[in-house]
Amino acid sequence: MKIGVFGAGLIGGFIGGRLAAGGASVAMIGRPAMADSVARGLRLTDLEGPDRQVPPEAITISQDPADLAECCLVLVCVKSAQTPQAAAALAPVLAAGTRVMTLQNGIGNAEVLATALPQARVLRGIVPFNVVSPEPGVLRRATSGQIMADRDAGPCAPAFAAAGLPLDLRPDMEAVMWGKLLMNLNNAINALSGLPLRDELAQRDFRRCLALAQAEALDLLAAARQPVARLGPLPPRLVPPVLRLPDPLFRRIAGRMLRIDPAARSSMAEDLAAGRPTEVDFLNGAVVALARRLNRQAPVNARLTALVHQALAHPRRWDSASLLAQLTG
Ligand SMILES: NC(=O)c1ccc[n+]([C@@H]2O[C@H](COP(=O)([O-])OP(=O)(O)OC[C@H]3O[C@@H](n4cnc5c(N)ncnc54)[C@H](OP(=O)(O)O)[C@@H]3O)[C@@H](O)[C@H]2O)c1
Repeated sequence: MKIGVFGAGLIGGFIGGRLAAGGASVAMIGRPAMADSVARGLRLTDLEGPDRQVPPEAITISQDPADLAECCLVLVCVKSAQTPQAAAALAPVLAAGTRVMTLQNGIGNAEVLATALPQARVLRGIVPFNVVSPEPGVLRRATSGQIMADRDAGPCAPAFAAAGLPLDLRPDMEAVMWGKLLMNLNNAINALSGLPLRDELAQRDFRRCLALAQAEALDLLAAARQPVARLGPLPPRLVPPVLRLPDPLFRRIAGRMLRIDPAARSSMAEDLAAGRPTEVDFLNGAVVALARRLNRQAPVNARLTALVHQALAHPRRWDSASLLAQLTG
């Protein structure tokens, strides 16, 4: 099975690398820096499992989308703002019936791909774990969880299983996407804090910020009658009250949430630190867009969206009390 990766960054590099290490033929579209890492042999490390060294010959990598022409599955792993360009690059290349799976965060990427790629079978997937690059050539899975995908991804499941990344095939991916989005509302808070995820979530006022953003989204989703999948140990409705608990109680009840690699940050934090555009418009912005469709407002998520845009122009680290005051003021 030849699998393509469009956007060989953290997620594309890690998942594509694991698929190659598991025996799949993998072709990646990526930048020269990743091509150098692949040429030296990617090293994939894991919070939970053994390290894997991927020999250079196991992956082909280029910047020419035509190299994905023979693939029966293409994983789209660019940031959400780059989806239209990725789709335009794939449109003249992919054969009829090619499965195209978005592994991106945010709402709307599958629709953009489906519109631009009428010959393809577009599938939705979510990656619940974080990938970081502690040094060039090394990609590390820093949190745990199983990749979820539309049931139509069934024929691709053996390649993922061989890579040690078994797919959870779901009939309710729309609800799963919204469940993931609720978690990703923390990306903006993490980016604004400037802290690793574990240190940020250990602070009650940052958790209160997240609780505000999630509660606002949950109210809107209920008004829209959009089901939300439970992706963690708690039903989505119970997460905001738990986030608001005092630190010692939170650690006792929800200590699992803090079991994160100490260096891990959200990818939005990495983007902000590097001065790159972020995905905030596709995450907190998706809640604002939902509110607009319902003729309602989403002031907390609108404020977080604006603060991330501001932080890109004028870098600033927010302490937890100041950020909470911004969201409640
Ligand atoms: N990182 C995580 O832990 C994580 C976890 C779960 C989900 N996600 C989601 O997965 C998606 C990808 O995130 P990521 O962190 O892997 O992003 P990333 O590291 O920025 O990877 C995307 C890569 O694709 C490259 N790219 C974009 N357009 C290209 C083109 N036309 N030709 C060649 N290369 C191109 C980008 O290069 P340039 O930057 O130079 O454009 C970048 O190297 C996002 O939606 C993110 O929210 C990420």
